[in-house]
Amino acid sequence: MAAGHRSRKIGVSIGSGDAMKIVIPGGTGHLGGLLSGALGSAGHEVVVLSRRAEARVPGARTVPWDGGGGGAWTAEVDGADAVVNLAGRSVNCRYTEDNLRQMMDSRVRSATAVGAAIAAAARPPKVWLQMSTATIYAHSFDRANDEETGVIGGGEPGVPAYWGLSVDIARQWEDAQRAVETPDTRKVALRTAMVMAPGRGGPFDTLWRLARWGLGGPVAGGRQYMSWIHDRDFVRAVEFLLVREDLSGAVNLAAPHPLPLRAFMAALREAAGVRVGLPATRWMAELGAFVARSDTELLLKSRRVVPGRLLGAGFGFERPDWPDAARDLVARSRAGRVTSSIRG
Ligand SMILES: NC(=O)c1ccc[n+]([C@@H]2O[C@H](COP(=O)([O-])OP(=O)(O)OC[C@H]3O[C@@H](n4cnc5c(N)ncnc54)[C@H](OP(=O)(O)O)[C@@H]3O)[C@@H](O)[C@H]2O)c1
Repeated sequence: MAAGHRSRKIGVSIGSGDAMKIVIPGGTGHLGGLLSGALGSAGHEVVVLSRRAEARVPGARTVPWDGGGGGAWTAEVDGADAVVNLAGRSVNCRYTEDNLRQMMDSRVRSATAVGAAIAAAARPPKVWLQMSTATIYAHSFDRANDEETGVIGGGEPGVPAYWGLSVDIARQWEDAQRAVETPDTRKVALRTAMVMAPGRGGPFDTLWRLARWGLGGPVAGGRQYMSWIHDRDFVRAVEFLLVREDLSGAVNLAAPHPLPLRAFMAALREAAGVRVGLPATRWMAELGAFVARSDTELLLKSRRVVPGRLLGAGFGFERPDWPDAARDLVARSRAGRVTSSIRG
């Protein structure tokens, strides 16, 4: 099956011949760095919107905004070819009332402001890719959620009621994009799984560190599914969606083979050459999440999400299988650590 996905790989051609101006609100973070670097190297003009005037992103020009209202930044959207909105308070934090409110407000406010700028533009961009999340789907062990038949979460039996809050944030985030009329701009909601990339600060960094410390055993039984996407496939999928004018609406950005956390961590340990993986019970996960200032939902919710529309549109994943992706990520992480220690 994996070979099938690979053999159907098609090229994505947005090379320098088709240089675009692409505006990326919230492009200073983990995914923004990946996208700006790749799009900038491909010859595109990349403009990142940031609330921090001093922020610098390789491959991009930075323009200030406040993450919500109007302002001079809207002139960057007018006449741009594309907007990829990534802005939102990180979900990797304790789910306090205040943090949850910020997660919701930052997403809805920024999507609404981007939509208003596009709607008011004299020369609106052709496409608006709006970040969303694979967490919108229900906690599921036995069925894979694609865009057509997938079950949206909230109120599933047997899971903590507060997990519904992340689903609610995701729904309202997508609603904010849907609500804006943009007759000349195609809208896509990127229902993205955990993007696995080397380097500090992302989910791979945390999981790889756990594996290296010998703690990478199954968490709370390990039956829960992990949906993931390799960083290069994430960038390639975004490039694909920028140019595929026939695709709009919700699109899952996830590798075709999600797998239970137990198998996911075993493959990561193997890639890292670590033999021991102590299991973490549910309460240890709670404690670990508290210490790491994150929430256990990130590891305990079963996210079984598949890329029905990308595969249907002929997108080929370079790294559809986790063991292969994990080997690549470990090798690149190690090379990065050697390079940074040589640089001092
Ligand atoms: N990383 C993943 O695996 C993953 C998977 C699925 C979905 N997502 C979603 O994709 C988006 C980007 O992910 P990421 O990993 O790059 O996140 P990130 O590193 O936290 O970056 C998000 C950016 O959003 C901006 N931001 C933070 N708080 C904000 C607020 N209150 N109002 C407006 N902007 C705010 C920040 O830019 P400034 O401080 O420069 O303004 C920040 O650099 C997030 O919404 C995330 O939830 C990520």
